[in-house]
Amino acid sequence: MAANWKMNKTTKETEGFINGFLPLVKDVQDVEIVIAPPFTSLPVAAKLLGESNIKLAGQNVFYEESGAYTGEISPLMLKDVECSYVIIGHSERRQYFGETDETVNRKIRAAISAGLAVIFCIGETLEQRESGNTFNILKRQITEGLRGITANGLVLAYEPVWAIGTGKTASPEQAQEAHRFIRSELGNLYGDTAGTIRILYGGSVKPDNVSSLMSKEDVDGALVGGASLKPDSFAGIVKYI
Ligand code: 13P
Repeated sequence: MAANWKMNKTTKETEGFINGFLPLVKDVQDVEIVIAPPFTSLPVAAKLLGESNIKLAGQNVFYEESGAYTGEISPLMLKDVECSYVIIGHSERRQYFGETDETVNRKIRAAISAGLAVIFCIGETLEQRESGNTFNILKRQITEGLRGITANGLVLAYEPVWAIGTGKTASPEQAQEAHRFIRSELGNLYGDTAGTIRILYGGSVKPDNVSSLMSKEDVDGALVGGASLKPDSFAGIVKYI
């Protein structure tokens, strides 16, 4: 279960969240929990999470190791502040910051070779869904995004753009249909290993709809935006059973 805080929370707010969240999930053992705060909160989050088994993720990364790239953050810098994961290819980055399948691919390569696990986001817009292009889009994003990349350290996140921050969740059946398709595409790339790659669903996941989504065979977890910003709400999602 992964929390994507997007551009939310100062260091103080991060501290407040973690102090409230840790006691709520202290007994959780069989769910991997990941939090992706903004870059500025990573050091304080790493310190407070300490020996807990909650992992940290960056929300983005650049594909070069170092150099004259004002405003960018390298894979090594994320490792330096205890990140084990990085989110790559989020639709907001594709939509507002010009990310393409090609830059996403370069970022995934760089992250994996630096030893970061990657949460690779894909998903169609409403227009693409309504014009019957969902599977074409997912296929293109997977094929281009994962060109030359091995399955090791890879997590997929299916986030239909029309369900992000809109309160319109995909139905469990719609999520399952897309996840099954994604898994079969991963099968074309990785053979049987595709069965072990986790595919998260993202888009208006809340404590009260997570268990119906999680009941579907190919839904292995959730990538949560808005409902991950409050400790009790994200804890409710983590403890969905
Ligand atoms: P919401 O949960 O706010 O819809 O955001 C989903 C998302 O984009 C997670 O990466």
